[in-house]
Amino acid sequence: MYSLIRKFIFSMQPETAHNFTVQLLKLAGNLPFPILPMPQNPTEVMGLKFKNPIGLAAGADKNGEAIDGFGKLGFGFIEVGTVTPLAQDGNQKPRQFRIVEAEGIINRNGFNNLGVDVLVKNVKKAKYDGILGINIGKNAITPIERALDDYQICLRKVYEHADYITVNISSPNTKNLRTLQYGEALDDLLKSLKAEQTKLSQKFGKYKPLVLKIAPDLSEEEIASVADSLVRHQIDGVIAGNTTLFRDPVEGLRNAEQQGGLSGKPLHALSTRLICTLAKELNGALPIIGSGGIHSVTSGQEKIDAGAKLLQVYSGMIYAGPKLIQDLAREIKLG
Ligand SMILES: Cc1cc2nc3c(=O)[nH]c(=O)nc-3n(C[C@H](O)[C@H](O)[C@H](O)COP(=O)(O)O)c2cc1C
Repeated sequence: MYSLIRKFIFSMQPETAHNFTVQLLKLAGNLPFPILPMPQNPTEVMGLKFKNPIGLAAGADKNGEAIDGFGKLGFGFIEVGTVTPLAQDGNQKPRQFRIVEAEGIINRNGFNNLGVDVLVKNVKKAKYDGILGINIGKNAITPIERALDDYQICLRKVYEHADYITVNISSPNTKNLRTLQYGEALDDLLKSLKAEQTKLSQKFGKYKPLVLKIAPDLSEEEIASVADSLVRHQIDGVIAGNTTLFRDPVEGLRNAEQQGGLSGKPLHALSTRLICTLAKELNGALPIIGSGGIHSVTSGQEKIDAGAKLLQVYSGMIYAGPKLIQDLAREIKLG
């Protein structure tokens, strides 16, 4: 069934197909019944109760427009965003490319979104009763030295409305963003955001976990250094990880030379390596959410076995359809 739908979807430009799907799911969100069952495979992570460990990765619903529709596919959690303080167009189109033979995608969207206020409005309207994460970022026009301002604006605005908040410092499509992953820049950012989280938790009388999303392109030493910062600043979780700039697994294929971040099947091994190294360094101090190239139950299980406690999917769903979410949510065996 999905192979037919996929043929139709793949006849469109990737971003057109994406927008079309989001609009369909927005409509489907109003249906008084689920599209697919909500698989029960409960787990508790970061003090939050998940109906199952499979989440929608950030970027699929940047403005939180179709939360109920995505929820009806069976996700145990949904991460909306990346959202920035101000609305912005993102990079020039076309900016999404399929690498069909490898089941990969390259995107250089650049945080196109309608701004944090619109996202909050949409989140308030949603009825989805799974766990909702909100992923925050910085505007392209904000100099990197002022990045903290943007994260703080977003954190304050979304805090009340999220179950957890993800700080995205690993998109390759916002100039210099990834420099926040290193040394003093990372320490300063985490220290300030942790202090803000403490203030907000007192103000609202509720503690909301703070999660950091990192790149799979870090070296072993860099991963060790990030892990050390995460533990020192008592960050609640880490998403490993975002898209990659590496091209080895798709070399020579059509669209492989496009600039941007590579996701999907060709990313799986690299992101699993990131999880492995991170798990060794963290030694259970905080949970890892595995993301990158999950395209089958086996590939998802490999990420759990490497040390992830939850999983997020994006590209795999485009290639395999929502059945992948159902299969993962039912069949993944948590450690
Ligand atoms: C078109 C597209 C847009 C994305 N946008 C975001 C984003 O805004 N914020 C973010 O943190 N990750 C973003 N991602 C990365 C995904 O959340 C995910 O971490 C990555 O694609 C690896 O998972 P996958 O192989 O299952 O797609 C995006 C990915 C794609 C394909």
